[in-house]
Amino acid sequence: MAESRIPVLGEGALSLRAPEFIRIKQLEEQTSALRSSVICAFNQLLDLKDLNTGVHSTRLAEWGMRVGQELGLEESALQNLEVAALLHDIGKVGIPDAILRKPGKLEPEEYALMKKHPEYGWAVLRMLPGFERAALDILHHHETFDGKGYPAGLKDTEIPVVSRIVCVIDAFDAMVSSRPYRKGLPHEEAVRRLKEASGTQFDPVVVECFLTFAQAEMATVFAAAGTSVSSAL
Ligand SMILES: [Fe+2]
Repeated sequence: MAESRIPVLGEGALSLRAPEFIRIKQLEEQTSALRSSVICAFNQLLDLKDLNTGVHSTRLAEWGMRVGQELGLEESALQNLEVAALLHDIGKVGIPDAILRKPGKLEPEEYALMKKHPEYGWAVLRMLPGFERAALDILHHHETFDGKGYPAGLKDTEIPVVSRIVCVIDAFDAMVSSRPYRKGLPHEEAVRRLKEASGTQFDPVVVECFLTFAQAEMATVFAAAGTSVSSAL
């Protein structure tokens, strides 16, 4: 009796025997489960350092993914975007609490240390097989469109597209999230500031894409999360 074969790359292309196909599927599932576990573990680490902004950052990561889809990113880039959106600030675990939680303005040397967090995040994540590209995207999430960001001073399309997307959603999250020492901005004001810095700090294409659908959903999302939508600054 002939052994069954399952084509995997279309007619005339390479085919695999059923046991091999099943084994590959198992390995893919194990890799995917491991990837999810790593993301969860690092997320818990962010929670331990009180560096997560809860429901907002999750929603913003979802919006970031939608921007990536709208811009036509490939599946592998979208996977990296998911990691980068959720873990872009993982390097802050290496920043002293006295700096992370300082209510006032940072001294120049403190700010210089704070600016190391993208490199710290890259240094950790690049060690994990499968996370090398996301590590690079995290390394560049504080570059600005006009080349005045850090760590490399990349500009425009020199900046990885995933980093440009994370830059916008990270800034928006930072603006609308409340801290112990300040209240989050109303989302209308955060939108105004995003538009104002579009083309200088932010990629205008990403800002426009983000606001196209996010703006329509903000009122309900932020009202549900108990965030001010129209309070004074
Ligand atoms: Fe950051």
